[in-house]
Amino acid sequence: MGRVIAVANQKGGVGKTTTAINLAASFAAAEVNTLLVDCDPQSNATSGLGLVKDPERISSYHLLMGAASADEALQTTELEQLWLIPAHKNLIGANLELVDVEGREFRMREALAPLRERFQFIVLDCPPALDLLTLNALVAADAVLIPMQGEYFALEGISELLDTIERIRAALNPELAIEGVVLTMFDDRTNLAQQVMNELKKYFGEKLCATTVPRNIRLAEAPSHGKPALVYDPRSKGAESYIRLAKEIIAHYAPSDLGVVAPEPAQAEPGEKVDEIAAEEMDKSA
Ligand SMILES: Nc1ncnc2c1ncn2[C@@H]1O[C@H](COP(=O)(O)OP(=O)(O)OP(=O)(O)O)[C@@H](O)[C@H]1O
Ligand SMILES: [Mg+2]
Repeated sequence: MGRVIAVANQKGGVGKTTTAINLAASFAAAEVNTLLVDCDPQSNATSGLGLVKDPERISSYHLLMGAASADEALQTTELEQLWLIPAHKNLIGANLELVDVEGREFRMREALAPLRERFQFIVLDCPPALDLLTLNALVAADAVLIPMQGEYFALEGISELLDTIERIRAALNPELAIEGVVLTMFDDRTNLAQQVMNELKKYFGEKLCATTVPRNIRLAEAPSHGKPALVYDPRSKGAESYIRLAKEIIAHYAPSDLGVVAPEPAQAEPGEKVDEIAAEEMDKSA
């Protein structure tokens, strides 16, 4: 049975989508079957993996509305072991359309249930709101990964997110764990960044990920090329940091927790070369 990790923070622009795309790509490069689900009407994870806008394509909207199965929504990507369930801006409507529906918070969980045997990791990219879409992701998830920008006001708003997680545990998903808190766009050379880091360490203890993600232009450029950073520039600091983060998270689990080991790729295919480079980087950072 795979692990479902929601990448969530209701604060906008903290690096959720960058984390979701690059973490999922790094899991895939580590040869575990991984699914990225775009749960945000902004659809940045979808365009970031190179899919053009298409209102006809089956997307996370159809999953929430019960109009299609997760299997039907799967898209392949440039990485052999990474799949995507895309989003479209029509997803914004699901918030309203589901408002009176019984069990509305369980739609994503139910939709993804049949896929949990097939993927070792399912990563959910959430919108910047504590709305029904994020709620669906947090109910579907085993754990939440919280990206935070390493800045002075980093902790602002975090209690609201932690309260929400508590309420979800109490009422909807008692097993929901915190996978970790990851500092993004982090410049460890400044005093301020170090102070923020120390504050967060006091607050979150061992939940604060040892890996931090530096501010790195390659991470910002890669989505406009429709690629994860480890495909766009596998040797960039940004790509390396997400490869490290993936290793750190994989190490939280025993191999048996993650289900069957992914089968060897059958033959050389496009994308294999980048997989190799990423695997090399992965070994180096070990
Ligand atoms: N480590 C980084 N280095 C440089 N740029 C980054 C980094 N992480 C994210 N960015 C850039 O910052 C912006 C916000 O990042 P991102 O879209 O990942 O945040 P988000 O939390 O998903 O935003 P939203 O709340 O709108 O969904 C994007 O332009 C992204 O390319
Ligand atoms: Mg986003």
